[in-house]
Amino acid sequence: MRCPGGPRRPPARLGVIGAGQRGADVYGAFALAHPDLVRFVAVAEPDAERRTRFARAHGIGRECSFDDWPALIVADLDVEGVIVATPDRAHVGPATAALECGHAVLLEKPIGSAPEEVEAIAEAGRRGAGELTVAHPLRYTAFFSTIARLVADGAIGQLVQIDHLENVSWWHFAHSYVRGNWRREDLASPLILAKACHDLDVIRWLAAGTCRSVASFGSLRHFRPEEAPAGAPAYCLDGCPVASSCPFYAPRIYLGPDPSRWPVSVVTREPGEAALVEALRRGPYGRCVYRCDNDVVDHQGTLLEFATGVVATLTVTAFTAENGRTVKLMGTRGEIRGHMERGRIEVRRFADGAAMQPPPAQRIEVAVGDGHGGGDSRMIEAFARRVIAARAGRPAGEPATSLAVSLDSHRMAFAAERARKEGVVVRL
Ligand SMILES: NC(=O)c1ccc[n+]([C@@H]2O[C@H](COP(=O)([O-])OP(=O)(O)OC[C@H]3O[C@@H](n4cnc5c(N)ncnc54)[C@H](O)[C@@H]3O)[C@@H](O)[C@H]2O)c1
Repeated sequence: MRCPGGPRRPPARLGVIGAGQRGADVYGAFALAHPDLVRFVAVAEPDAERRTRFARAHGIGRECSFDDWPALIVADLDVEGVIVATPDRAHVGPATAALECGHAVLLEKPIGSAPEEVEAIAEAGRRGAGELTVAHPLRYTAFFSTIARLVADGAIGQLVQIDHLENVSWWHFAHSYVRGNWRREDLASPLILAKACHDLDVIRWLAAGTCRSVASFGSLRHFRPEEAPAGAPAYCLDGCPVASSCPFYAPRIYLGPDPSRWPVSVVTREPGEAALVEALRRGPYGRCVYRCDNDVVDHQGTLLEFATGVVATLTVTAFTAENGRTVKLMGTRGEIRGHMERGRIEVRRFADGAAMQPPPAQRIEVAVGDGHGGGDSRMIEAFARRVIAARAGRPAGEPATSLAVSLDSHRMAFAAERARKEGVVVRL
C-alpha cells in the first residue's frame, strides 16, 4: 500500500479511544497488517482486559495506556491523530476534546445519537483546530465509487430516482438490534441512524444535492413478546420447544461459524465451545428474541426528495435472507442495478435496446474486500495518508466523509425518525 517509487514515510502515529470490536478488530487489525501506514502509540479503554490486549498487540507501554479518554487527550504524547470508537452515546466528549486539541479525528458513526450531540460536535468542528472524518466506509468502496462515477459521467442520463435497500438479514438483526448493543434507542440510536446513516450519506452523495423533504414508516413488528412461540423460555438453551424450527435459536447462529470472527467474537473472547455455550446460557446473545428488552424498529421505509429533484427510497429491514446492500438507480437514459456484496453492477442504456425489450446489460465487476465491501480498509488508509500528508505540510483537501458532509446524513436520519413517529412529512 506504499506509494510506488515514493520515499518511505513513517506511519501515522495514532491513538485509539475505545478498543472494542471496531477499535481493536478493525482499526487495530489494519495497523498490524499495514505497519507502514498506521502505528498505534496510545490507547484509552476502561475494560482492563481489552486495554491490555490492545497495548500488548501494538507494543504500547503503560505510560500510554489509559482507562478513560480524557487522560489520553491531555497527556503530552507524540500522537498525530485519534480514532474515536466508543459506544454511540459516548462520542461527544472524546470527539470534541480531540478537535479542540487540534487532532485529526476519525470518528465512528453515528456522529452522535441525538441532534444536540451532533450539533455539539459540529460546533467543536467549527471552533477547534482539528479536522474530523466520519467513519462512513461505503463512500470508500469500489462499488459505490464506480456507481457515483457512472452517474456523474451521465451513463444513465439525468438521475431521477434511487431505490436503496439495506438488507440487514434476519441473523444480523437478531444479533445487533434485538439481543445486542443497538437494541434500544436509549442505549444507542434509532435504527435508521445506527444502521443506515451510511446509506443516507451515499444516497445524498449520488443525489448531488441537499435533502428537502422526508417521509418515513416502520415499526417493531416481529421481535416482541406477543410473537413468541408457545412455551418459549427466556433463554434458548432452557429447553425451547421450537429449537429445531426457530431461525433465531441462538446455537444455530453462534455455534458453527469461526469463533474468532464477528459476530461470535462479540459473544465471548474465551476460547472453546464450552465457553461459548456457557455465554449463551445466561448472556445477552442467548436470549429468546421475543423476550428481550429491545425497542428499535425492525423495518423502516423512508422516502426522500432532494433539491436536485431526485427522489429516493431507503428500505432498512431485518427480514432478508442476505446481508448487504442492493441498489437501483433510474435515469432519463437508462438504469443501474448493483449488489454490493457480490461486487456486481449492471448498466442498461435505453438506446441500446429494441422497443419492448430490456436493453442488454453492461456488466461491471468491482473488487469486494472484507469489512463493508473493502470500504473499512480504504477509509483507514485514506485517513492515515491525510495524517502523513499534514505532517509533511502537504494540503490534502476535504476528507471524502468530512464532518460538514456527514452532518446532512444525520439530519436526514433525525428527520426520518420525526416523520415516522409523528406521521408527518418533514421539510428540511
Ligand atoms: N463505521 C461502521 O460501519 C461501524 C460498524 C460498527 C460499529 N460502529 C460504531 O463504532 C462504535 C463502537 O462500536 P463497537 O462495536 O466497537 O462497540 P464495542 O462495545 O465493541 O467497543 C466500544 C469500546 O469503547 C469502550 N469505552 C467505553 N467508554 C469509554 C471511554 N470513556 N473511554 C474509552 N473507551 C471507552 C468500551 O469499553 C468498549 O471496549 C459505535 O459507535 C458503533 O455504532 C461503526
